Amino acid sequence: MTTSRRIAVVSAGLRQPSSTRLLADRLADTAGRQFAARDVDVDLRVVELREHAHDLTNHLLSGFPSASLEQAIGAVTTADGLIAVSPIFTASYSGLFKTFFDVVEADALDGMPVLLGATGGTERHSLALEHAMRPLFTYLHAIVVPTAVYAATSDWGAENAGDGDGGDGAVPTGLTRRIERGVREFTELVSDREPRQAADPFAVPTPFEQLLAEN
Ligand SMILES: Cc1cc2nc3c(=O)[nH]c(=O)nc-3n(C[C@H](O)[C@H](O)[C@H](O)COP(=O)(O)O)c2cc1C
Repeated sequence: MTTSRRIAVVSAGLRQPSSTRLLADRLADTAGRQFAARDVDVDLRVVELREHAHDLTNHLLSGFPSASLEQAIGAVTTADGLIAVSPIFTASYSGLFKTFFDVVEADALDGMPVLLGATGGTERHSLALEHAMRPLFTYLHAIVVPTAVYAATSDWGAENAGDGDGGDGAVPTGLTRRIERGVREFTELVSDREPRQAADPFAVPTPFEQLLAEN
């Protein structure tokens, strides 16, 4: 029986074209193929944070999201799995990436499978995935898959030898192997779990009497 899952992809690249978005697209395409092989339909929503940069700052200052930012946050919080990709700036995730997750409700990612990715100029900063990005999502109680995917500038040069999908006769590169592995862990985790029950924004709030009694 075919099942379906909602997957959100967050990309925090600043340049256009963006190597972060390129990696996010590679991860999303590979996920699409691997879910299809498992007979899982995917509803994929891409959130390009660059488009929400001004609204994110306004949200921090005013406490209210614009309609489009609210939609972007909703795409993430109602997903069954998240692919989150940031450029590495000054040996950590970018400020834009952090700002987005600062305005997402703290418990919204509780129990959500997450695949992490990052791009950087140097391969020497790949561990930023482990010492910066992974702890952020652990704090949010997400379930981060063991393999996180890093792409340095030199990885893209190697990719140009073929399209890197391993199906064109080109030898799969290290990046392609890391993508396949990380996505396999992610699709297994998402497929094995029941679709998440997203919080109903119109649900009746906790009655006032109950709130008073708890204090
Ligand atoms: C302000 C700034 C700081 C950066 N710091 C690092 C860094 O510490 N380590 C690294 O490997 N690359 C660093 N880079 C390079 C970017 O991570 C790299 O170019 C990234 O892939 C850009 O992503 P984009 O093309 O999606 O915007 C930095 C770039 C900028 C603009």
